[in-house]
Amino acid sequence: MRIHAAAAAALLSLSAGSGASAQELATFEPSFPSPWGGGGPGWDEAYVKARAFVRNLTLLEKVNLTTGTGNQADLCTGNTGSVPRIGFRSLCLQDGPVGVRYTDLNSVFPAGISAAATWSRSLLRRRGEAIGAEFAGKGVDIHLGPVVGPLGRDPAGGRNFEAFGPDPYLSGVAVAETIIGAQSAGVVASVKHYVLNEQEHFRGSISSNLDDKTMHELYLWPFADAVRAGVGSVMCSYNKINNTYGCENSYVLNKLLKNELGFQGFVVSDWGAQHSTIDSANAGLDMTMPGDGDYGGAYGSWWGGLLTENMLSQAISQWRLDDMVIRIMAAFYKVGRDTKQIDINYSSWTLETEGYRYWAAKTGNQIVNQHVDVQADHGALIREIGAKATVLFKNVGKALPLVKPESIAVIGEDAQDNPDGPNGCVDRICNNGTLAMGWGSATAEYPYLIAPATALEKQAEADGTVFTNVKGNFDLDAARAAASEASVAIVFANANSGEGYTTLDGNFGDRNNLTLWKGGDELIQAVAEVNPNTVVVIHSVGPVLIDHIKTNPNVSAILWAGLPGQESGNSLVDVLYGVVNPQGRTPFTWGKNASDWGVSILFNSSEATPQQDFAEGVFIDYRYFDREEIEPSFEFGFGLSYTNFTYENLVATLQEDQATYTPASGETPAAQMYGFLDMDKANAMPPEGFEKIPKFIYPYVNDPTPPPPIDIDPPTHNRSAQPILPAGGPSGGNPDLYKIWFVVTADITNSGDVAGTEIPQLYISHGAPTEPKVVLRGFDEVTLEPGETKTVAFNVAYRDLSNWDAEAQDWKLTEYPKTVYVGASSRDLRLQQELTLPS
Ligand code: NOJ
Repeated sequence: MRIHAAAAAALLSLSAGSGASAQELATFEPSFPSPWGGGGPGWDEAYVKARAFVRNLTLLEKVNLTTGTGNQADLCTGNTGSVPRIGFRSLCLQDGPVGVRYTDLNSVFPAGISAAATWSRSLLRRRGEAIGAEFAGKGVDIHLGPVVGPLGRDPAGGRNFEAFGPDPYLSGVAVAETIIGAQSAGVVASVKHYVLNEQEHFRGSISSNLDDKTMHELYLWPFADAVRAGVGSVMCSYNKINNTYGCENSYVLNKLLKNELGFQGFVVSDWGAQHSTIDSANAGLDMTMPGDGDYGGAYGSWWGGLLTENMLSQAISQWRLDDMVIRIMAAFYKVGRDTKQIDINYSSWTLETEGYRYWAAKTGNQIVNQHVDVQADHGALIREIGAKATVLFKNVGKALPLVKPESIAVIGEDAQDNPDGPNGCVDRICNNGTLAMGWGSATAEYPYLIAPATALEKQAEADGTVFTNVKGNFDLDAARAAASEASVAIVFANANSGEGYTTLDGNFGDRNNLTLWKGGDELIQAVAEVNPNTVVVIHSVGPVLIDHIKTNPNVSAILWAGLPGQESGNSLVDVLYGVVNPQGRTPFTWGKNASDWGVSILFNSSEATPQQDFAEGVFIDYRYFDREEIEPSFEFGFGLSYTNFTYENLVATLQEDQATYTPASGETPAAQMYGFLDMDKANAMPPEGFEKIPKFIYPYVNDPTPPPPIDIDPPTHNRSAQPILPAGGPSGGNPDLYKIWFVVTADITNSGDVAGTEIPQLYISHGAPTEPKVVLRGFDEVTLEPGETKTVAFNVAYRDLSNWDAEAQDWKLTEYPKTVYVGASSRDLRLQQELTLPS
């Protein structure tokens, strides 16, 4: 066992923010056996089909569906083996969260962080549907997204932009809407990276150490929402969690995900994140990708033939293998792939029409790209999301919206086309021209990218506005000259980050600092020196330090345009010219100094397993700023509109018929086995004359010698009925967690003179002095004509009101008073009321 079990009990009593050392935090109790899937709401029919399918498979066929065929072995980012006997093709897994990666005629959607900035459930859902439709149209079975890990503990985390921001509630709503949307198109979503992959430095060796309360209240929370939304797959992460690798961590996979959250789908490894055969199988891994992993032995894989060997020696139980395949197939049937699957019509490894089918082996020349156009009318949706994700931070004297200004000067490289074309660098590992996505696997090829300068020039032409454009960042004289002549100077700057398999400008995925790139600060300063109507536009992966811009009196407006995807310029023009009244609210805090967040990326370590202690507990982002009374530049949830809103009449109504919580009890059924495995090892050899494709991973064994008897580990093989955890239950945990205890209403009025959309936010104080001042527990999107009033309603569930009790291993209401607040941001809490809880 690779489990570090010492001091497990001590852990449970640790509370968040206790400043515990790595040693104290670095363990969770191992949890066996691996829970077997059993169906449940939304899954029953899929399980009936999956069991019937798996019952008829041979050992080798079962193994084949659990194991990738190798890196670049076949057409997709990852491919499982197939079942040729019954014409079941290999399953295709494809990146990534902003669209179909490595193909053509696809769309590039706004990144997760921008999608979250809309605070719009309907846009998040529609984005998910459109993304799902594009994957389905390319023949993909499993879409590798969305992302809620990293959550965004540290603002410099390289992959934060892929996800929906550091608040678990917002993140949870966003991930659920995305999954429901994507899976409705008939593809399986794989939510990733589970869990605590919070930085890119040392991602394959670092141990993220934390306590049980923080796990539940922060990092696990959005995964619970993903499971509740019916996600078909979860991708386990590269890092270790309390010193055990994510993909062989029985605590996070068996206990939390499959037992407590009742996850019924399958766990797939991140690419190369599997490091063992038996331990990963028993800890709850169901599929390994890309299959060839880091195992250098005779099978070229931790599974494949090696899994077959371990099935034959009975080191792994049949019910566990059956469960892996049933979970995979249940996800397949749940989203309707049995009726919706079409041929895989592209290759990830070439854009040419003809090429190698088996890329790694360089064999099988054929037509691999049919160039299927899956874009439909998604451009319009992307434009709308990009606009509604744009956050207006400052707007002095109604500088915006622009109304046919006499002249505009557009200044800065971030407004321009990349001279090498939008896809000029592989995986977007460069920062040339306007920034509309980060770098790494969360990229897709742009079909086109509307640069802000292009869209602004078009608008200027239509308005008869004199237009000038300064394309570089470093000729400050040219910038000043253009700016001083213009009635409005619009200056652009950006900050990038990405996946830590490579470095950009010295940033190994994670950002080295939180300042603007390519001299952006100096450029803005120069422009603002000469033009009192300077509008600043920032494209960035997360917060940058902008207090000097905020307080500069010549900066009349600031917009954060996030990572808007292919319609960047058009979305921005819609906001600048008031076609869209800004509704974006920042999904993270903008501090004044990098030290304001109280955490830091571990940039240097000589340890084999660098230790990153999450000693701040649940106090990340605004929760930390609030506790430490640090004034940010812009707080979580903040954003201006071209109109104003007033808040009145908070009413909290107890839902008496629902307000109960009963810890779950009882037992699961015992594990079943489906079909009989042929234990004659000779029959696991490749058939006579079988010609292997080089570098391809197969389920066959290498020699027919019967395996020696082995000692098995009883807990991992135990297939008897298992206790249901108090917080456990099907698909998301104990259903009582989601019972609505209070409906909170408030009246919102548009008190300005243009129509606009407000994002009223509900926060809760859990009352205890050791808890965050407030936490987000609701939001709505309400569009109002001038003078109009609407009542918004928030459902407050038991989970929202309670805290994780590590000792009881359950969600409990603490003895402290609970107060609800409704307001326009985490620091603009306009209405409040203490809740009267039922006794
Ligand atoms: C590693 C990344 O962490 C993951 O997000 C991605 O899906 C795989 N590589 C496949 O590209």
